[in-house]
Amino acid sequence: MPRAPFITFEGVEGAGKTTLAQRLAEWLEAQGVPILLTREPGGALGEMLRPILLHHALDAYTELFLFLADRRQHTLQHIRPALAQGVWVLCDRYADSTLVYQGYGRGIPLELVRQLNALATDGVQPDLTLLLDAPVEIALARANEPNRFERETIAFHQRIRDGYLQEATREPQRFLTLNALDPPETLLRQAQAAIQARFRTPNRPNQPEIGL
Ligand code: TYD
Repeated sequence: MPRAPFITFEGVEGAGKTTLAQRLAEWLEAQGVPILLTREPGGALGEMLRPILLHHALDAYTELFLFLADRRQHTLQHIRPALAQGVWVLCDRYADSTLVYQGYGRGIPLELVRQLNALATDGVQPDLTLLLDAPVEIALARANEPNRFERETIAFHQRIRDGYLQEATREPQRFLTLNALDPPETLLRQAQAAIQARFRTPNRPNQPEIGL
């Protein structure tokens, strides 16, 4: 059996990734597609690290290593086994977040972050990345309960947005850039169309015919 599709959601804070991921998950489930909806920091380790990562002042490399440690554990324990069993994985943030936040944002050399990401993911890469793009001021105004990253300067968030757009240009096959200011219905339709164009989705519940 070919491995199931792996879809990630990326974007600046408050862009609506989580809502889109949830709605796509519901849409896929309604078609009988087995799915794992997850996020990073994620898994048991990620949930333990979350308060530290989001609320403690950390050195940039310490922050990097913690996100990477979480990714490696999450990938090996949850993402890869699910994909191997034919379960579609929808992940809210993944390696691109580290490249963009710790690389473009914090200034850690991009090539180093790419290499460490390759180690952390053990080569498990998304087939499709939905990038929700929006002007940073607008997206930030939507974010509630600001964490340490959301309280960063506008210049930091601008580097994040530019970094994502640069990565999307670098890998146009994998990325689909969506305008996060579009209505949620429009975003959902565009994401559904991209999924239908790329992957086989079952059209009958309980008879999944999945794979790339
Ligand atoms: P979260 O509350 O999940 O925010 P969001 O809804 O925006 O995803 O917080 C995760 C924060 O961690 C977010 O501000 C981005 C940051 N982050 C990194 O800096 N590097 C990473 O590798 C990941 C996964 C997240």
